[in-house]
Amino acid sequence: MQTALENPEIVSLAAGFVDQRSLPVEIVSQAVSDLLSDPSAGRRALQYGTTIGDSSLRAGLIAELERGEGRPAGYYQEAIPRTIVTTGSAQLIYLVCEALLDPGDIVLVESPTYFVFLGPVETRGARAIRVPIDEDGLRLDELEATLQRLEDGGELGRVKLIYTIPEHANPTGISLAAHRRRPLVELVKRWSSRQRIYLLEDAAYRGLSFGATEPPSLWSYDRQGDTVILARTFSKTFSPGLKVGYGIVPEGLIDPILYLKGNHDFGSANFNQRLLERVLADGSYQKHVARLTGMYRRKCAIFLSALEESLGPMESEVHWTRPEGGLFVWMTVPEGLDTGFDGPLFPRCVREGVLYVPGEHAFAPEPAPRPRNHLRLTFGVPSAEELVEGARRLGAALSACLDPVA
Ligand SMILES: Cc1ncc(COP(=O)(O)O)c(C=O)c1O
Repeated sequence: MQTALENPEIVSLAAGFVDQRSLPVEIVSQAVSDLLSDPSAGRRALQYGTTIGDSSLRAGLIAELERGEGRPAGYYQEAIPRTIVTTGSAQLIYLVCEALLDPGDIVLVESPTYFVFLGPVETRGARAIRVPIDEDGLRLDELEATLQRLEDGGELGRVKLIYTIPEHANPTGISLAAHRRRPLVELVKRWSSRQRIYLLEDAAYRGLSFGATEPPSLWSYDRQGDTVILARTFSKTFSPGLKVGYGIVPEGLIDPILYLKGNHDFGSANFNQRLLERVLADGSYQKHVARLTGMYRRKCAIFLSALEESLGPMESEVHWTRPEGGLFVWMTVPEGLDTGFDGPLFPRCVREGVLYVPGEHAFAPEPAPRPRNHLRLTFGVPSAEELVEGARRLGAALSACLDPVA
């Protein structure tokens, strides 16, 4: 990796960053200057805030959520006291794991899942078990079968959390179909008869859909507000440098999470929260997201057609997802071809001048073994020209590994 990173000619289809040129410099510059032009508002912003987060921002987040879900203003008012601003959604996710998981507890995750999530699970000494997905996202029959197996083995009592990324998931780009959403929430409630099983909805890529309106969130189907933990972030739709995220959590989790957050940092950066509150309120955030999705739609189309062109001759052996939003494409190669750092493909790609993330990292350890024949690719960072060149180099490396004699 180090050698690769030192080579400026390399095309990285690996880093899950947002497009550098898309970052909202003018919007943020205007918001900073507005914020500081009023000395008393400026001083408030430069002071510590509260652990739960700025109250105007939290009201603004719920207003934005209502817009996104096509609900009238005020519809989700009751959720404001359950809304906690965090340092990115990563902090919320970490705090949820810290609050809920004891050693030996079980978390069910999609197969594959966001590999960073597996870190806090492991840190807590908990087990992550994979549940298969298909082109419509998490498979409910498989989820039910997994829960049944755990019940039969006397382990259902250890299941505390189910983690899902319903929009344009990292790493697959796949979304949970609208028709699976309400049934998923109902299924989790049904299996919570012994102890509460929470459903952690990581909506990091919500808002980054290229076309059709997004289906309702899982959270919107939890009207009692006791099952779904909604994790959201502005890192993908606005700026990861601001690192502002938030969670809407069930009543019983508010105090434990605030207690732990108090120990971490007693409140996320107040200045960034006030800034975000402004850009949400004056509409510049929403305009930015519209521009951003247009840009990613174009980059995704360029990348997919470049893959088609460069990998077309291998179509019987190599498959990949066609995302309708987000930043990721997930590729599957024949089982015998190890895509890991120690396999033949990765070093070949480095020699060709292209990088990807080996898919094995995105699989929870159970059931063993983890599949090793996938690649995570992203079209977020590279330019259009680099995407075309990256696809060409990947095609060359794959073709050399699949047909070594040629
Ligand atoms: C699925 C998913 N969840 C959460 C995050 C965390 O982002 P942040 O902490 O910047 O909000 C990421 C970042 O890549 C992600 O891909």
